[in-house]
Amino acid sequence: MCRNCNCGKEDKKENKNFYLTTPIYYVNGDPHVGTAYTTIAADVMNRYKKSMGEDTYFLTGTDEHGQKVEQTAKLKGYTPQEWTDHMIPNFKNMWSALNIKYDDFIRTTEERHKKSVKKILDVVYKNGDIYKGEYEGKYCISCETFFPENQLNGSNKCPDCGKELSLVKEESYFFRMSKYADKLLQHIDENPDFILPHSRRNEVIAFIKQGLQDLSISRNTFSWGIPIDFAPGHITYVWFDALTNYMTAVGYENNPEMFNKRWNNSRVVHMIGKDILRFHAIIWPCMLLSAGEKLPDSIVAHGWWTSEGEKMSKSKNNVVNPYDEVKKYGVDAFRYYLLREAGFGSDGDYSTKAVVTRINSELANDLGNLLNRTLGMYKKYFSGIVVANGKEEEIDKEVKDLFDEILKEVDNHMYFFEYSKALESIWKFISRLNKYIDETMPWALAKDEAHKERLGTVMNMLCEGLYKIAFLIAPYMPESAKKIYVQLGFNIDVENLRISEILTWNKFEVGHKLGEASPIFPRIEVEKEEVEAPKKELKVENPIDIKDFDKVEIKVVEILDVDKVEGADKLLKFKVFDGEFERQIVSGIAKYYPEYKKLVGEKVMAVANLKFTKLKGEVSQGMLLTTEDKNGVKLVFIEKTIQAGAIVK
Ligand code: MSP
Repeated sequence: MCRNCNCGKEDKKENKNFYLTTPIYYVNGDPHVGTAYTTIAADVMNRYKKSMGEDTYFLTGTDEHGQKVEQTAKLKGYTPQEWTDHMIPNFKNMWSALNIKYDDFIRTTEERHKKSVKKILDVVYKNGDIYKGEYEGKYCISCETFFPENQLNGSNKCPDCGKELSLVKEESYFFRMSKYADKLLQHIDENPDFILPHSRRNEVIAFIKQGLQDLSISRNTFSWGIPIDFAPGHITYVWFDALTNYMTAVGYENNPEMFNKRWNNSRVVHMIGKDILRFHAIIWPCMLLSAGEKLPDSIVAHGWWTSEGEKMSKSKNNVVNPYDEVKKYGVDAFRYYLLREAGFGSDGDYSTKAVVTRINSELANDLGNLLNRTLGMYKKYFSGIVVANGKEEEIDKEVKDLFDEILKEVDNHMYFFEYSKALESIWKFISRLNKYIDETMPWALAKDEAHKERLGTVMNMLCEGLYKIAFLIAPYMPESAKKIYVQLGFNIDVENLRISEILTWNKFEVGHKLGEASPIFPRIEVEKEEVEAPKKELKVENPIDIKDFDKVEIKVVEILDVDKVEGADKLLKFKVFDGEFERQIVSGIAKYYPEYKKLVGEKVMAVANLKFTKLKGEVSQGMLLTTEDKNGVKLVFIEKTIQAGAIVK
């Protein structure tokens, strides 16, 4: 069905073959939470599509050529090939620890890939789209990117990563990318889902409209790359080489049958981070247009992760290590958190407090308790042996209908890679079942023999519901799904479970023996605050008189808008309403509220009679009250029912 305008028409682009790729990762460093996120997101999507009956193919791999890898290898005392060979287990082991099930792992140093790059270069060259010239300009080795002056405004720093740029002056072969600008714009226009989330489309369109320059696609001042037949002494620019991997792996050069199925007749999706969108949404499609190949169907760009509100960096020692997290919380909880916490496409913040809260409330409480209560009651009332169903009541029907709705919702969210929303929908169903227990009150039914049949029906509804929940969470948390099935008395290969097998509500036959209940998501104990404070005598330093306090006018204010203050990282400027006037208040709490727009609508306390002042050029007409403890600074929130302007005494 059409998903863009709900016109009800069949969507011609729906395809039962699904080919999904992650970026291929540079091997200059180990995988980390950023690369893990892309790979987990792709794995979840692949498992989901497979469970929906699609014929899927999932590719990941490593990007092994280029100046950056050559430099790293040299620094570590290896040849580039030795270095890349040495790094591969680090990637493969991490993917295995994170329960990633890929179909192929491609390395750009493999023969099949070298042949494939030679093929695309030849085709593009024969089409007259490659010419010889000279490149003189700036290059970022870290991003392996050329930056024409018009993108730099005189700066010598990489606009993407901030590192110092190198000056490159060398003979180079150029790809006539400019020739394809209009065709590409037309393609983007005609294919609304070409760039997802949709919010990223405009950024790409604007970039193309600025004017596309031809791209330097060869280097001749170092040698770690794929040689170019028609350009002796030159190696292929690493991005031209790397992007081609997506076709190599599905037989571009050596397997026409596979290529036809997996490239030409699949929904081809490249999952990437927002930092490499231009390479995928501009350079790659232009290469394909020139080579006469089909363009990918969707390029899906996710946001970036920070750690406890700050950019991750080795120097700050705040880089999240997936192994540590898996050890602390388990692989499923880690996968769940990453996909639930940040909306896809938006940046996310990795915070221990948020991880623990989600595990305790969503996994242990909502889901874990539902399973535990159900199994506990079944055991208590029927010794854990499934009994016959009685008459279906209105509430049962309502739950079943809700499930059908949830399935559609989840599928729609997953089409648009909205993992967090899909999980939200699944949790809506979990909450409904928890509420179903409260409403049907099995403990009350159990007291009266006349209600025994109804009790059986209620308990069966819960078991059937859990069976479906396990199916829905399986792409995200395969191990936990498996455990739920075991506790429900089934031995199910979750990786091969298909939607067609879970649509009916009759999985539990009379006499089926349920398994033993045990918590799948143990609660995480939060570090206990010190209960006993050291005995000190109560003493007030610098006491003030009530009259002194009365001088301070504290009011409740409503936050109408929040923005950053230009040129001041720490400051946020708040537009607030104090019951009578709108005021601007500047506050140094930017660090604690990276998602400051979420504050709009909140009510907080402010000192209203402070002398007005100016901070970094912005007038501040008051002061917001905050608290500070070891977890940082927080605003003092007030119940929303209290009116703006209320006096705090
Ligand atoms: N080799 C290129 C990709 C070539 S694809 C034909 C490359 N490699 S990379 O190893 O530098 O990065 C790979 C991915 O990791 C990117 O999608 C990038 O967005 C992602 N991340 C790296 N750090 C990240 C975060 N802190 N947060 C989220 N993802 C980030 O680019």
